Amino acid sequence: MIDHLGDFKRDYFAGELTEANIGDEVRLLGWVDSVRDHGGVIFINLRDKEGVVQVVFDPSKSPKEAVEKAKKVRSEYVIGVMGRVERRPEGTENPKIPTGNIEVVGQQLLILNTCDILPFPIEDNINVNEEVRLRYRYLDIRRPSMFKKLLLRHEVYQKTREYLAGHGFLEVETPMLTKSTPEGARDFLVPARLERGKFYALPQSPQLFKQILMVGGIERYFQIVKCFRDEDLRKDRQPEFTQIDFEMSFVNEEDVMAISEGLIHYLWKEVLGIDLKLPFPRMTYKEAIEKYGTDKPDLRYGLELVDVSDIAKKVDFKVFRSAVESGGIVKGINIKGGAKLSRKEIDELTKEAINFGAKGMAWIKLENGKSTSPILKFFTEEQKQQLFERMNAEDGDLLIFIADTYDTTHRVLGFLRKIIAEKLDLIPKGEWKFTWVVDFPLVEWDEEEGRLVSLHHPFTSPKEEDIDKLDDAIKDKNIALSFKSRAYDLVLNGEEIGGGSIRIHRPDIQKKVFELLNISDEEAEEKFGFLINALKYGAPPHGGLAFGLDRILALMTDSDSIREVIAFPKTQKGICPLTGAPDYVSQEQLEELGIEVEIPQEEEKEEA
Ligand code: AMO
Ligand code: AMP
Repeated sequence: MIDHLGDFKRDYFAGELTEANIGDEVRLLGWVDSVRDHGGVIFINLRDKEGVVQVVFDPSKSPKEAVEKAKKVRSEYVIGVMGRVERRPEGTENPKIPTGNIEVVGQQLLILNTCDILPFPIEDNINVNEEVRLRYRYLDIRRPSMFKKLLLRHEVYQKTREYLAGHGFLEVETPMLTKSTPEGARDFLVPARLERGKFYALPQSPQLFKQILMVGGIERYFQIVKCFRDEDLRKDRQPEFTQIDFEMSFVNEEDVMAISEGLIHYLWKEVLGIDLKLPFPRMTYKEAIEKYGTDKPDLRYGLELVDVSDIAKKVDFKVFRSAVESGGIVKGINIKGGAKLSRKEIDELTKEAINFGAKGMAWIKLENGKSTSPILKFFTEEQKQQLFERMNAEDGDLLIFIADTYDTTHRVLGFLRKIIAEKLDLIPKGEWKFTWVVDFPLVEWDEEEGRLVSLHHPFTSPKEEDIDKLDDAIKDKNIALSFKSRAYDLVLNGEEIGGGSIRIHRPDIQKKVFELLNISDEEAEEKFGFLINALKYGAPPHGGLAFGLDRILALMTDSDSIREVIAFPKTQKGICPLTGAPDYVSQEQLEELGIEVEIPQEEEKEEA
């Protein structure tokens, strides 16, 4: 029953056929999208990567043998068709598909393969568990929307290479089996068979190699590269993901940011046909935190944070007053039109705030000329007016407030701002709000580790004007905490799509920064000795950036998760449902590597 392909060749893709082909004899190859038997006339929708066309096997126009064979065809069978393109009879056109005015009258049918019962239909807008989609990813990818995403990904690769190569960047591959790199996540390790007890680490990024390429005189490097990070997964994180990574010599921030903007502009223009306005706006880290409560602000909507600490500290409400007196702050958000939220919805918001670390959430509702609130009783009339003025409050608004430390207040309000925007549907579709975030602190205090840690990575340069103060900063951590770094992040619609910095290129300064971070000489030597060494041999000033390609693609295609733009992603638990990876390996393999593993009991595994 199954035919051989032989020398049957396609001469058109199904989706390419137009009315201009009427009268042509065509050969098509593809899958059976659907099949219907209308009283002995068989209609097959044949689908290939370009689209769908209707093929008719009609006893009055097609050979009997072909019609009989067509009756045996089922969904997703692989077929070849030779036939003649005709205009569809009047009244039978299908405006829903581009080839809806024509059909192919079948003359010959090859059945090249059959197909089992499908776990889900091959069509867009299906409602199927993601794990099932990933297990049958080959079927999932047959759906036109998924194919389009992979096609767009391909175009972004091509245009990226075109742009960067066109600007003098050299594409260089860096190793996947390497030493631990310092992006701050856990490493994936690979045991080295030839060196018992030793391990390679999969790179968290090519950071050290790209810097070494600059020492090597490459001047401009780029790579579209896999990075591996063993961290807790979310919708915008995968254990292996792709970066567009680049590095440049003899540059400052402006040069790197200009190339970054140029590339993004080129991708949006060439791939989406959208002409973005350059340059992108910039804001400092401080401004981002204080206005939006996050270092990746979504600028598609308002809901800015307003400082009311000066008013709050005078009010007879202990929560507010004591927050300010103990060095904290009180800030609020005016939710325009938020008075329509019910008491229950406000209580839910309060619960979210508490889940996120707040002690409570105060609120004032302004409705029908009246204000309701559990806290207004503590305000004098004058304080109330002052507060309303500061918050730009009007009838119909809901004001919410958090009183806490500087960090907690901003973090909680930043989070509330996001869920309020989603809840009230304040996020406009189809807008591209880019912003650079600059002037990050060089270091922050890590309570758990009891030491200063880099906000980016330890190779990020302090500002030139602070270099001479490094020795003082090593002695006094408050000086270090006041330093800004030469790092920059690019944020789009509230997501960090890229980050980079001007690096430290002098070994003496690198040493001091390690000292600042309480990384001992031995530790620095052991972990990054090869980089410090390289810096000793005439390292040029350099800097670069890496874009998160998957995140860019998820935004470009309006996808909920980066898993939608990766051919074979892992689930939230880091599992590949298609292959079953990760998996146990044989005892022989382990012995060869000199590894003993403790396999948890079934119950323990469940809990893990
Ligand atoms: P960074 O760690 O900021 O910088 O990474 C750069 C960009 O990569 C994306 N990204 C991720 N995407 C998906 N899944 C993940 N787990 C994940 N982690 C990061 C983000 C991020 O902006 N070597 C430096 C770059 C440099 O300094 O040049 C680096 O890796 O979009
Ligand atoms: P209470 O006096 O504790 O009942 O609190 C009165 C109101 O203040 C309630 O709406 C609380 O949710 C809110 N509240 C309590 N603690 C805080 C805080 N740290 N910041 C903002 N609001 C708070």
